[in-house]
Amino acid sequence: MAELKQSITFKRGLTLKNRIVMAPMTTSMSFFDGVITSDECAYYALRSGEVGAVITGAANVQANGKTWEGQLGVYHDRHITGLSKLAGSIKQNGTRAILQIFHGGRMTNSKILRGVQPVSASAVAAERSAAEIPRELLPDEILALIDDFKQATIRALKAGFDGVEIHGANTYLIQQFFSPHSNRRTDEWGGSREKRFKLINDLVDAVTSAVDQSGKKDFIVGYRFSPEEFETPGISLDDTLYLIDQLADKPLDYLHISINDYQRISVSEVYQEKPMINYIYQAINGRVPFIGVGDIRSKQQADEVLTTADLVALGRALLIEPHWVDKVFDKKTELIRTEINKYDREELLLGNGVWSFMEGLMPERLIE
Ligand SMILES: Cc1cc2nc3c(=O)[nH]c(=O)nc-3n(C[C@H](O)[C@H](O)[C@H](O)COP(=O)(O)O)c2cc1C
Repeated sequence: MAELKQSITFKRGLTLKNRIVMAPMTTSMSFFDGVITSDECAYYALRSGEVGAVITGAANVQANGKTWEGQLGVYHDRHITGLSKLAGSIKQNGTRAILQIFHGGRMTNSKILRGVQPVSASAVAAERSAAEIPRELLPDEILALIDDFKQATIRALKAGFDGVEIHGANTYLIQQFFSPHSNRRTDEWGGSREKRFKLINDLVDAVTSAVDQSGKKDFIVGYRFSPEEFETPGISLDDTLYLIDQLADKPLDYLHISINDYQRISVSEVYQEKPMINYIYQAINGRVPFIGVGDIRSKQQADEVLTTADLVALGRALLIEPHWVDKVFDKKTELIRTEINKYDREELLLGNGVWSFMEGLMPERLIE
């Protein structure tokens, strides 16, 4: 079993100084056109320097992927200058900078897109209130989408990032292609599980080939996935174990689960003997490093996750305690902040966007 303080070197040669990464968290602090603000750079700088790597919040690879106001963009060369400031803000004291690349697909709406209809694998609305029916992508548009993930990777390389993470989780466009709920296509991009995997397969190849072609040796590519969907039909843990099996043999540097509780048990009756991350770690079987996540608050929990993952990601814990890592490593765990109130917002550089996400996602840690 690895230890939190232990370094790790990925296949492409990049080393992280320890096993703790900051989980990707959208801040909604960018300008309307996806250009980073100095407030956002300061927010990241405050949480860098101690963790092995910071994975940024989701950055759009296409303008019509935008899912929140104030979301980061990587869909145009004009974003590169700001992105290089962001990479510089993160890369302090050996912390590595990883840009999460993303498209929201049907999870956005025509108000955010200023009158443009959202797109997806098929014209099926998400099962949530006020969800709009998306437009089914044409085959040529799918090829353009894959190319835009590649272009985003090239921009991340130019901006000085140490890697990209492909956001294949949380019900967004890449997951929409793998899901039998959102993908009802009958062409080569849909149908069987294998065909629903085709977009992911081709997209991973495009992104990794961009890195190989760049000649940069220590730039990593990770992939994030969600283990299950609750819709019927929807992605089952069985589908995810298939996905993992395919991805573990691709030229990826890590796989990263997206889950709110690392102890979560599957809804599938055949996988209820242990938490989902245990089944996934077992399926990966050492082929590629695996990042575990989900409500990790204490060193003891982080150590427990390292028995079934190679690295741990911390999200909400770092929002309220930017110095979680040093306090753990210095054995000052009694100083770790576990709750905050509105007066702490300024010190913690939490803008309105991230604060309103926090109100929805972690109300128990926000006190009066
Ligand atoms: C404010 C906020 C924004 C988030 N934005 C993203 C995102 O952009 N991309 C992503 O993959 N996950 C996102 N997540 C999920 C986190 O990466 C993480 O998986 C989740 O918060 C569970 O980890 P935690 O309990 O340590 O916070 C977000 C979570 C929060 C709290």
